[in-house]
Amino acid sequence: MIAIVGSSNIDIVLTVEHFTNPGETQRITKLEYFPGGKGANQAVAIARLSEKPVYFLTAVGDDQYGKILTENYERENIHGYRVVSGISTGMAFIEVCLSGENRIIIYPGANACLTQEMVLDSKEELLKANILLVQNEIPFETTLYACAMFKEASKIVIFDPAPAQDIRPEIFRYVDFLTPNEEELNALSKTFFDNFVSIEDSFEKFNKLGLKAMIVKLGDKGATYVDSNRLFNIPTIKVTAVDTTAAGDVFNGALAVALSEGKDLAEAIRYANICAAISVTRKGAQPSIPKRIEVEEFLKGIQPL
Ligand code: RIB
Ligand code: NA
Repeated sequence: MIAIVGSSNIDIVLTVEHFTNPGETQRITKLEYFPGGKGANQAVAIARLSEKPVYFLTAVGDDQYGKILTENYERENIHGYRVVSGISTGMAFIEVCLSGENRIIIYPGANACLTQEMVLDSKEELLKANILLVQNEIPFETTLYACAMFKEASKIVIFDPAPAQDIRPEIFRYVDFLTPNEEELNALSKTFFDNFVSIEDSFEKFNKLGLKAMIVKLGDKGATYVDSNRLFNIPTIKVTAVDTTAAGDVFNGALAVALSEGKDLAEAIRYANICAAISVTRKGAQPSIPKRIEVEEFLKGIQPL
């Protein structure tokens, strides 16, 4: 089993012709609401790709959005959520422009209420999993605590450092796989080591802080794996981007599923690349996440990379 400790958001998606400039006013061409949140998107990816129940420790508010999200979790066979009273569900305001790129502003809401105590309360359920997947949209202390708990139990920890803010270096000693995108790696390298030179150089420095391996998500350039012994890139397939929202989340979820099913690293990364690429061709965070069968069908149609 795979466990996730992370965020839930309702995504308010504003389709725009171009990203709004400072001081500019423009009309959106479409307004849509989708279930999202990095933790939730990764949980949904795991549920759809593994076809197994998922334990997802998350917090939503006792409002209408919270109700929509939790009903959705039940449908997806996702369990473990908490409903916190007196606070709104987390929200993400997402501008998506014609190229499919996005910009996101977050209101944390109930995500800020996900505490270490909640992790401790769920310890028994959480530790039924062999792999923990975490992101950085809940209080950092909570993420750190969950990672330490899994490491102490000798389990695998995958940390997606997104967004790359308020991260403390203590976490790296608990992490098996760090999965930043280029921007996040850049930001983290600048914060911890003052500059970014290369993937290899950053890994060496993170490795001194205890990190075991890193997988850098490079979008249409695939992903690069690095540990103390090797570095390799796995290319991805070419697709027409409609909305890149949640592509990174699909990558993480698919990676966790592939590793839990015993695929080797190169195979797992290839699978994660393809699942992410499929999601890029579709609109919305969770609506864009493929099911296992869809990926299998898709794989039949493409040449081995
Ligand atoms: O990674 C995509 C997600 O980031 C969106 O669903 C949004 O909720 C933000 O958290
Ligand atoms: Na998408």
